[in-house]
Amino acid sequence: MATPATTITITGAGGQIGYALLFRIAAGEMLGPDRAVRLRLLEIPQGVRSAEGAALELQDCAFPLLQSVEVTDDPLVAFDNAGIALLVGARPRGPGMERADLLAANAGIFGPQGAAIGAVAADDIRVVVVGNPANTNALIAAASAPDVPSDRFTALTRLDHNRAVGQLTDALGARPDEISGLAIWGNHSASQFPDVSHARVRGESVIEALASRLGGLAAAEAWLDEAFIPRVARRGAEIIEVRGSSSVASAANAAIEHVRDDQAGTPWTSAAVVSRGEYGVPEGLVCSFPVSSSGDGYRVIEGLSLDDRARARIDASVAELAAERDAVRALGVL
Ligand code: NAD
Ligand code: LMR
Repeated sequence: MATPATTITITGAGGQIGYALLFRIAAGEMLGPDRAVRLRLLEIPQGVRSAEGAALELQDCAFPLLQSVEVTDDPLVAFDNAGIALLVGARPRGPGMERADLLAANAGIFGPQGAAIGAVAADDIRVVVVGNPANTNALIAAASAPDVPSDRFTALTRLDHNRAVGQLTDALGARPDEISGLAIWGNHSASQFPDVSHARVRGESVIEALASRLGGLAAAEAWLDEAFIPRVARRGAEIIEVRGSSSVASAANAAIEHVRDDQAGTPWTSAAVVSRGEYGVPEGLVCSFPVSSSGDGYRVIEGLSLDDRARARIDASVAELAAERDAVRALGVL
């Protein structure tokens, strides 16, 4: 008998990333060519027409795996029996808005959406938050669904991971699939730590390969500190500056890969997951780690060595996550 269709809810589906996601998901690129899908597109009333337009185009693609598309502005309808949720819709920072204003506006979105997930989603729901500030929005959603195991809530740092791979392929003259063991630690923000200390290229340590190409270990470390880490950590801002708006296709691609690898399994990638205290990250923070999956959710890869410089960078990003959590707590949300 055929596997029943998976219900996938996409919030902010009428926006840019939504448009870049929907057709690839419906074509089977996220769950594979054997899994039928039902799409639920959640929007705010002003975004409904745009999502309805995307739904018309989905129909016109006649994707064999696509069983239905429903557009709604009601979270209880959108998340009903959902097995996968991609939370993309978020309030962007506007002129004169402070960080706390942004957190407050997004708490007003991710709190009710988390509660709706807790009330009506399928028992095995898995959630990835894309909308910024992604880590703390995931924290808010998870806290608003106390009956859903918190490890079902993740946030997207796969885009940062892919950006780091992209920079290394250039520097090393390697293909993306020849690089492994890279890790993004911390927040999806400029404080994140893209870490190559355990990364390998064609079986060789990335640091040694960089040292051979750049003329020594000191030159490799200088390149990592002065070029690689800031470029990856600030790539979102670079895209905004060059394109005039934030990343879309690469973000949608990363979200698809995040869900695909979570479901199909992977020995190593990066994702933000709810900390259980791994590597000294306070329990409950949604922090990016190196993770693996056996098809049943991301787990932190434990036991990696961290030198003092890595430790300091991770601590700085984790401190930012803790400050965001405290700001949300001060608003009475957590
Ligand atoms: P966009 O403005 O084009 O689309 C956002 C959509 O969300 C809009 O259609 C809006 O109507 C909708 N929306 C707003 N509030 C909603 C709510 N309460 N419920 C449902 N829908 C709602 O923006 P975009 O380019 O698609 O980006 C979406 C988010 O993703 C932004 O927060 C952006 O910063 C973030 N982002 C994250 C990453 C990452 O790697 N984590 C990468 C790129 C962008
Ligand atoms: C990105 O990383 O491209 C997004 O999070 C957008 C941003 O504000 O950097």
